[in-house]
Amino acid sequence: MSTSGFPINEFICGDCFAELERLPDECVDLVLTDPPYGIDYQSNRRTAREKLPKFANDCDLSWVDGWVDQVHRVMKNDRHFYCFTRFDMYPVFYNSISRKFKVKNCLIWVKNNHGSGDLNGSFAPQHEMIIFASKGRRDLNGLRDSDVLECDNVPSAMRAHSTQKPIELLRQLIEKSTDPDELVLDPFAGTGSTGFACVDIHRHKGDKHTRNYLLFELNREFRDYAIRAGLGRQEMLIETAKIKFETKPKHRPTLRTNRYRGKKDATMSLGI
Ligand SMILES: C[S@@+](CC[C@H](N)C(=O)[O-])C[C@H]1O[C@@H](n2cnc3c(N)ncnc32)[C@H](O)[C@@H]1O
Repeated sequence: MSTSGFPINEFICGDCFAELERLPDECVDLVLTDPPYGIDYQSNRRTAREKLPKFANDCDLSWVDGWVDQVHRVMKNDRHFYCFTRFDMYPVFYNSISRKFKVKNCLIWVKNNHGSGDLNGSFAPQHEMIIFASKGRRDLNGLRDSDVLECDNVPSAMRAHSTQKPIELLRQLIEKSTDPDELVLDPFAGTGSTGFACVDIHRHKGDKHTRNYLLFELNREFRDYAIRAGLGRQEMLIETAKIKFETKPKHRPTLRTNRYRGKKDATMSLGI
């Protein structure tokens, strides 16, 4: 809990629409989130386990405008907003976000694997879109990166959530758009990848690089998983990806330039 009376470094199991309303105006430094895309998604990937569960608010997008209004209200001025989406829902999110924010880019995340879907009748989807928007004006940290981000996806056999995002990708975005001690909000946190990315920055760079997080997730199963799982699962991904990349680079290393080698320490958790 922060001294300002609202929670920080907490993963709250609750409805983000209600939780956002409880937050004061202009208290958050970055919103980085991967909302339901409104496509009633069910992964058909074969894994050693049963199918991963569907999630809430994924059947229609009538909530988007009200949610964007709340996100805008809780963000400080001169701050950034990243929102994952995909090609067929991009217009809904773009139109809603651009009512309140200046949309600066559509980032393309190129994955090492591709989705399933219509195997014979469509191209294999190998990217996701991230709307990058700004409330006021803020410069990005570091060098000027490309709007195409290459980062390996979480292997499906290791996922606890069908749309789980790689910590490394989120970590790079957080570092581009926040300074130490700032607060990152993810209202649709799933398995807590955004929180793990904040913890990761501190872990790899030290105390002077701390980022705070605040996560909301409706489904207790995902939230409990995040608290139990720690970082070990994704560090295995980082190790695997690094070895593969060293052997035969396939793409220009845009955001991969800062790749790091995770230590195999499966004990770390969000500390809640
Ligand atoms: C696309 S997933 C996010 C996955 C996440 N990026 C990860 O890496 O695990 C969207 C999540 O939003 C959650 N959700 C849907 N409606 C919600 C609501 N009203 N409040 C909080 N979470 C919600 C779903 O349960 C789902 O886990």
